[in-house]
Amino acid sequence: MRQELVIGQGEKPAIIHLDKLNRHGLIAGATGTGKTVTLKVIAEKLSKAGIPVFLADVKGDLASIAEPGELSEKILERAAKLQPEDFEPRAYPVELLDIFGANGVPVRTTISDMGPILLSRLLGLNETQEGILNIAFKVADEKQLLLIDIKDLRAMLNFVGDNATELRREYGNISKQSIGAILRGLLVIEEQGGDLFFGEPMFDIQDLLKTDAAGRGYVNILMANRLFMSPKLYSTFLLWFLSELYEQLPEVGDLEKPKIVFFFDEAHVLFQDVPDVLEEKIELIVRLIRSKGVGVYFVTQNPTDLPNAILSQLGNKIQHALRAFTPKEQKTVKAVAETFRQQEGEELEKKLTELKVGEALVSFLDPEGIPGYVQQVMIYPPESKMGILDPLVKEEKINRSLLYYKYSEAIDRESSYEQLQRLSEIKAIELEENEELAARDREKAEQLKQLEIEHQKQKEQTRQKRTSSSRDSTMDRFTKNLMSQVGREVGRVISRGILGILKK
Ligand SMILES: Nc1ncnc2c1ncn2[C@@H]1O[C@H](COP(=O)(O)OP(=O)(O)OP(=O)(O)O)[C@@H](O)[C@H]1O
Ligand SMILES: [Mg+2]
Repeated sequence: MRQELVIGQGEKPAIIHLDKLNRHGLIAGATGTGKTVTLKVIAEKLSKAGIPVFLADVKGDLASIAEPGELSEKILERAAKLQPEDFEPRAYPVELLDIFGANGVPVRTTISDMGPILLSRLLGLNETQEGILNIAFKVADEKQLLLIDIKDLRAMLNFVGDNATELRREYGNISKQSIGAILRGLLVIEEQGGDLFFGEPMFDIQDLLKTDAAGRGYVNILMANRLFMSPKLYSTFLLWFLSELYEQLPEVGDLEKPKIVFFFDEAHVLFQDVPDVLEEKIELIVRLIRSKGVGVYFVTQNPTDLPNAILSQLGNKIQHALRAFTPKEQKTVKAVAETFRQQEGEELEKKLTELKVGEALVSFLDPEGIPGYVQQVMIYPPESKMGILDPLVKEEKINRSLLYYKYSEAIDRESSYEQLQRLSEIKAIELEENEELAARDREKAEQLKQLEIEHQKQKEQTRQKRTSSSRDSTMDRFTKNLMSQVGREVGRVISRGILGILKK
């Protein structure tokens, strides 16, 4: 098996080394310059090399990798010029995934699994509200209570609100307004389809790491057309996928080839209005996921939309043409030209603006891991179809997917919504019991009046003792009930990863 991918040809072939794929990369360029086709060509080569791919199809022009391409004049011309090895129209093995479950295998996760950091991002919470959400998760986690869907989280938040006085001692102030704001945020998410993607069975990230019978890596395509309409939802889910990979895969160091390559299309939305803390965490995950055998490739129109701490980690770069009409664009061109290792007098700025569609300036890490000199290349034509995936083929792919049978049916196990509901019933019964107790106490006190002072004192002490111990035992039972009612025995301490998702 070759140890490299060839994706185009200039004076020399454009070569990405398999063992350097985990050093991450960038595909950038103005609109219409060839980013998507380049991504497709790379995905094809990865699949051929037995490496699974994960990508999000935002515009609906990537899923057609599941169909063989048409040998149009343009494609034939390009192929004749570049002479790609073993070129022929081919379809690649795909798994279509959809958060909304309409255009692919439903991808679900639980509220507990997504965790407070990503959920805060999803809900667009401010710091105070995020604090409250953290408390809700802390209480749930400590009690090993699994929050599965939105109604669970709502129940949990109401629970936290109702018990604010008790919880304050341990967790600090809990304001009703903040709880109200989070609840309203949940409504918005629900309107965007939250009832579809929070639930069970939860998607197992290991299902992305598949090869077909011929040893080709699966191209896992998140159908993100609708998802991208809410960029926050889109970026949060991609971060969730990335975190799952990070938290679940073992440390492996540098492999001969990665376990999976992850493409982050429209990557600029990832860092839009992101608080510094979250940005640092994303950078950390990107840096650390390398040694888990995952390569991350950012696809964006303007590379300067990505933070420097990310850009500096991207070893394999493909830069399509940039426009330079406005002063701001000219500045970008200059900045991008400077990021390449180049020989004297290359005039990269000029080249960057004059590249034709499907041409790029590229620089890949050499076998020693040193950035190669920048070179201008023409990208190979794709073997698979360009354009939209045929709806019939889409249906067939979904219906034939084994994953579809694994995930198609949502299950609604008893979760904390039901548990908390029962809990409040239990609490009501307890309250009644307490009232009865109190009534009896009053009666007794009445009788005590008739008794001697000494005796009365003694009695009074017992009563006080009993009232306080009865209050304690209410709290105890309350906690115990909360815990014993857990639908799924977590049976272990819940711990969370860098981006706050549940560790398995
Ligand atoms: N390597 C290539 N081989 C053949 N045709 C190509 C290649 N690259 C680009 N093209 C042609 O250019 C068109 C635009 O390319 P593409 O869709 O990849 O642009 P893009 O950069 O993804 O644009 P956008 O930012 O709008 O998504 C393609 O539909 C195709 O016709
Ligand atoms: Mg595109």
